Amino acid sequence: MKDKFIPFSRPTINEEEINEVVDSLVSGWITTGPKVSRLEKLFSERFGVKDSLAVSSGTAAWHILAHCLDIGPGDEVILPSITWPSMANVIELLGATPVFADVDKNTVLMEPSEVERLMNFKTKAILPVHYAGAVADIDAYKSIIGNRQIAIVEDAAHAIGSQYKGFEVGSHSDAVIFSFHPTKTMTTGEGGLLVCKDTNIMNRARSLSLNGVGKSAWERLSQSSASYELKEPGYKYNMLDMQAALGIHQLKKLDLFIELRTQLAERYQMLLSEITAIKSIGLVDYYIKHSWHIYVIKLDLNVLNMSRKTYIDKLKSQNIGVGVHFEATHMLEYYRKKYRYTTEDLPNAVELGSSLISLPLYPSLTFEEQDRIVNAIRAISE
Ligand SMILES: Cc1ncc(COP(=O)(O)O)c(C=O)c1O
Repeated sequence: MKDKFIPFSRPTINEEEINEVVDSLVSGWITTGPKVSRLEKLFSERFGVKDSLAVSSGTAAWHILAHCLDIGPGDEVILPSITWPSMANVIELLGATPVFADVDKNTVLMEPSEVERLMNFKTKAILPVHYAGAVADIDAYKSIIGNRQIAIVEDAAHAIGSQYKGFEVGSHSDAVIFSFHPTKTMTTGEGGLLVCKDTNIMNRARSLSLNGVGKSAWERLSQSSASYELKEPGYKYNMLDMQAALGIHQLKKLDLFIELRTQLAERYQMLLSEITAIKSIGLVDYYIKHSWHIYVIKLDLNVLNMSRKTYIDKLKSQNIGVGVHFEATHMLEYYRKKYRYTTEDLPNAVELGSSLISLPLYPSLTFEEQDRIVNAIRAISE
């Protein structure tokens, strides 16, 4: 008989989350309302910021922010190739140009020297990814940008709870987006959060997340006047109370989640260190607190003498699920064809894009399950 399937990801949802969602369902108010406001307040308190905006996804948070930064035709945004494609798609759909940057071979974070190489008078923003829970070197990007009018937007989809030089990501960031997709360190089912130092941007973003009318249905129907005004057309990107119900309790447990993830990540580091055909991705040499959103290994495909797909299939045949974070986005069909990239461009991203896999890592993963994963990796790799 086969061992039970170990999924790549498993959200930790307990009674508190379930009861809070049920409370929303029976309350008669399930869309954006008091629970979303409560979640936003909890985040603002945690980050020590004036305001935070909960929305329907991390991608939505970036879309709204990019709109507020007036990113459009003629503009360029620099982002690492090793990222989720939706981030490049937003740039493309706004009529601007995503300019893909190479990443560090060890850490998979966007190389600061790439910003220097790719930056020009059209560059409107850079969008570094805090990959796997490690934080990209924001100060290094800042010193390259100098006093040019280029926004730094931190993609912290992997980095809720991470710290950079003693400060939590979100607390000192100019602009940052988070994701609460079910695979993320904390989840709201689907969801995202935007935090930006510029109050005008936050106000505009809030209005844009609600079609541009600036008031949620809760505010219109329960709190203030039912009438509304439209300053500019916006999006329908609001978070629901049913989602915030999850988030309120997930956020309370975030530090515990990270502690449990860290324990498992350190155990992976130890158990995998002697398998020569694979390598855990490297750690940065400046001070951060890693939140261990995912645990990523790099396959030495030459030594293994097989493709990543075969490797993943072999794990699957042992009932173990893994993830890919990420393919090299510049080599995905649309971007490769449109911008005429070849395998010579961004060599680290090309190599990592075909050799990284992410192992199961979540609070409910048991040491026994982890041992099974490590044993399977050892057997396939040796
Ligand atoms: C690095 C990164 N950025 C952005 C996103 C987009 O987040 P969402 O799925 O909430 O839109 C993801 C989600 O997978 C991600 O991993």
